[in-house]
This record gives sequence, C-alpha cells and structure tokens, in this order.
Amino acid sequence: MYKRLASDEDAPKASPLLRPGECCPYITRIRLMTALGISLITTILLLVQCIGPSMLRTADLLCCHGNQVLHTVQPNRGNLSQEDEDYAEYDEDLDGATRIHYKHTKRRLPQALIIGVRKAGTRALLEFLNLHPNIQAEKKEMHFFDDDTKYVSGLEWYRKKMPYTYGDQITIEKTPAYFVEELVPERIYKMNSSIRLLLVVRNPVERTISDYMQIHSSKLKKGKYHDTFEDIVIDRPTGTVNKNYKGIRRSIYHHHMERWLHYFPLQQFHIVHGERLVSTPWEELVKVETFLGLEHRLNHENFYYNQTKGFYCMHLQSKEKCLASSKGRQHPMVRTDVLLKLSDFFRPHNQKFYEMVGIDFGWE
Ligand code: A3P
Repeated sequence: MYKRLASDEDAPKASPLLRPGECCPYITRIRLMTALGISLITTILLLVQCIGPSMLRTADLLCCHGNQVLHTVQPNRGNLSQEDEDYAEYDEDLDGATRIHYKHTKRRLPQALIIGVRKAGTRALLEFLNLHPNIQAEKKEMHFFDDDTKYVSGLEWYRKKMPYTYGDQITIEKTPAYFVEELVPERIYKMNSSIRLLLVVRNPVERTISDYMQIHSSKLKKGKYHDTFEDIVIDRPTGTVNKNYKGIRRSIYHHHMERWLHYFPLQQFHIVHGERLVSTPWEELVKVETFLGLEHRLNHENFYYNQTKGFYCMHLQSKEKCLASSKGRQHPMVRTDVLLKLSDFFRPHNQKFYEMVGIDFGWE
C-alpha cells in the first residue's frame, strides 16, 4: 500500500509512467532486490569456499565414482612370469578411480595399503572401504613396490598415479602381490615407516583353490590346457603336497609375515578375517575404521545380500553394486583325500601364523 508522504509535492519526481508517489517504493524494491542479490551471491561464494568442497566430495563419493573418469591408468604388466601373466586378469572390477581434481584436493602417497593375501577378499575390502567418505581408494592394482620397472620410476611417479584426495581423506591402494614379494616390505618401509598395513587372510585351503581357479579361468579364456587342481597340488611320485606350487607357497602365511615383521611392528597391521568379510562385512569394516582412526560410518545398511551372486553387495546412492564375476567364482569339487592332505599340510603353518599375529582364525 502506498503510504502518503507529508505532501505529494515533497515526493521525488517520478517517471511519467508512474503515478505520483510510486517512485519511492519502486526504488526501495530495486534496492532491496539488489541487496538480496548481493547477499545471495556472497552466500553462494562463501558456501563454495567453505563447505563446497565437502559437499562436492560427498557428491563425488556418492554418485560420481566411475562416471567422470578423466584419465585412467592402464595396467602395466611389467616383467611377469607366465603363471603371473595367466593370473593377471587385473581385477576387471574397476569402474574408474576418482580422477576428478576438485579444488583443495591433491594426489598423495598412500597412508594405508592392502598388501594381500590374494584371493582372500582384497577387492571386496578395497571397494567396501571406498564407501567411507574419508577414504579414497586407488582402484587399479599399482604393483609399484613389486615390479622393478615401476619401482625405478620413483615415488613421485607413484604419487601421481594416486587419486585426488582432501586433507582429511586417507589414500589407500591394494596390490595383493605385495604380501609375498621379497623386496616389498623394505621398499614400503623406505617410503613410510609408519604406514598402516591391511592384510586379509582366508583359510589357506580355500585360498589355494581360489588361486587355482583364477589361473584356470584365465587359461580357459585363452584356450589353453590346464591341469586339474588335484594334479597340480599333489606331487604324483610322493603323493604329498606340492610345495613348489606357487598357490601353496602363497598360502603359508607365516613365511611371508615373518619378513614383514622385520620391518614393521605388529601394531601397524590390521588383519581382516576373510571368512567374516564374506558373512558380515560391516563387522570387519568397523574394526578397520577403528584401526585407521576414522569415524564409524560403515554399517549393515551399506550392504544387501544378493541371492544370485551369493555374496553381499553394496548400496550406492543411486545404484546397487556387486563385485565382478571373477569374485565369488564357483569352486571345483576337490577330492576329499586331497582336501585332507591340504588341511594336514597347512595345520602347523596356520598354527605358526596364529601365534605370530596373536589371532586364532580357526581354520580346519
Ligand atoms: P572366490 O572367487 O574364490 O570365492 P580377491 O579380491 O583378493 O581376489 O579375493 C576374491 C575373493 O573375495 C573371492 O574368492 C570371494 O570369496 C571373496 N569375497 C569376499 N567378499 C566378497 C563379496 N562381497 N563379493 C564377492 N567376493 C567376495
């Protein structure tokens, strides 16, 4: 409503299109709108500066993973043996590491590593941890510390392969070969002697079968012949377990762990129970969060059981995601006598490992 001034003559001259006295509320409205506009712009700018990064980060974590891959790292197979080459399917479960370079982010060397054991659930652990807003996983296996051709490229090369992270995020990489390769502990120690190390272990008999299946499926794809599991793990002439088979050697956990403990104290490791990672992943993840000093953000609600896959899969914000088909393969029916031989063979080794790490995994 127009509020009359003392006299209309006192009012400023108005536009001929305006009725007398309408100019003031009009100018006031313009001023008001200008002021509102300025404060809105200022607020937006402030938001972008202050909480923008975390909002973007959340958005990135929740929906942009894999959608905006600016550049990815091609697997460099380096100097692999034939067996490793057959093994090397390079986890196709890679829907893109986050390569988005938001303001306030930079590439950092990993502060935590998943060092193995291969076929014990390393991909599941990495993917699940990547759900945490304070973790940024490099999804490719980098093989930096076990592949000389990469290692000579130097730490700066390695750092540049890492995803961009905010200051409050932990960069994590996983390469299961790290656990079993001789030179790796020393090399990692030289990079960061206080790095946190994650190791997933699984019943060695099951792990050995899974390891065999990985190579088996790779050979099948290439149309190559592959011996049966029994023929490989049992030495025919003696009828005993074939200790020269890499799949067996990788399953003797205490041998490898011993080398690691020369460089790192036990407190720097967190050992994830592979079987429990399958049955109740959220429970294993809570322990990892504690070990990494992170707020507890992962729980049962991040997962759902997928009947077809027979494993837990992840709820992402806009979709659901299971691990690739190479994770959770059907295992072959192994002859009972061979299974018994393997269990007997691993029993004393498992015992040594339990004593070394102070955990009884109860594998039979
Ligand atoms: P199998 O394929 O023998 O079942 P890695 O990632 O180290 O190669 O380990 C693969 C193993 O991860 C699988 O071995 C599977 O048992 C295990 N795993 C754990 N949680 C899983 C999940 N949620 N989905 C699929 N595989 C999972």
